[in-house]
Order: sequence, then structure tokens, then C-alpha cells
Amino acid sequence: MVHVLFVCLGNICRSPMAEAVFRHKVKEQGLDKSISADSAGTGEWHIGESPHQGTREILTAKGIDSKGMVARQVKREDLQAFDYIIAMDSDNMHALKRMATNGETGKLYKLLDFVPERGVSDVPDPYYTGNFEAVYSLIEVGCERLLAHIRERESL
Ligand code: 4NP
Repeated sequence: MVHVLFVCLGNICRSPMAEAVFRHKVKEQGLDKSISADSAGTGEWHIGESPHQGTREILTAKGIDSKGMVARQVKREDLQAFDYIIAMDSDNMHALKRMATNGETGKLYKLLDFVPERGVSDVPDPYYTGNFEAVYSLIEVGCERLLAHIRERESL
């Protein structure tokens, strides 16, 4: 089983959106017995909360399930337990690098590194912009590419 963790700041907007979109794609491609998805935030403010209304609304509009998701904070053990750890922006990446004291930096990626042609390297935070549609568009293509990358690398 390949374990994938998506990480943002609050774990209520971007990373739960990415987790749900990625899991949907994994299921569509019949890989749910081989690849798992989870998400977490580097901050602690929203622990225990459901995804933001904007994230829930856009996922529902796209026919993607988001039931039962609860925000949690990323912890050191996650860096060992997960095989691919996907940061939404460079701040999240820096926070993860600071936690990666046992040589786990090779597992760390930024989602949009898989989407070079859009010329954007950070998924903008919709908590501040309110633009969940733009965020969805980036996350959708990022998850598609990430899944293709994992399938190739893991021969799935
Ligand atoms: P997220 O968005 O990192 O995409 O979940 C945020 C949610 C909450 C806060 C910041 C970003 N906050 O400052 O509370």
C-alpha cells in the first residue's frame, strides 16, 4: 500500500480538497486497494473541524464525497508513516522540512511541482482569497499528475 499525505496550513480548505479529489481519482482508476490518502495541517487552530464550507460546496458540485473528514495537525510520525507527503505551498514545505530530521526530505513534494506549465508554484489559500474554484482547478490537475507519477514510480 502506498500512503499519500496532503498538507496545508489549517487542514480545512486546500489539503482536504486535495485528499478528496485524489481519493476520487484513485477509486476511478481502481487503485483503492493500492493507494491511500490522508491530509493534515501544519497549524493547530482548526483541529477537529470539518472542511470549510467553500471546500465542501465545490466538492459536492463536482460529485466528490467529503463526508467524515476531520482536521488534524501533522505530526513527526507522519513523516515516517507516509510515502509521499505533498505540500500545498512553500510555507507548508518549509514547516515539513523542519520536521524531517530523520532524512525524510526525499518524500516531500509540492503539489504544483507536478504542473510546471501553469507557472504557479503555490496553491493560493482560499481561506483568504475566497476563490475555491481557482484552487480546485489547480488541485484537480495536480492530483491527476501526482497519481500518474506514483503509478509510474510504483509500477501500479
Ligand atoms: P488551508 O486554509 O490551509 O487551506 O486549510 C487555511 C485555513 C485556516 C487558516 C489559514 C489557512 N487560519 O489562519 O485559520
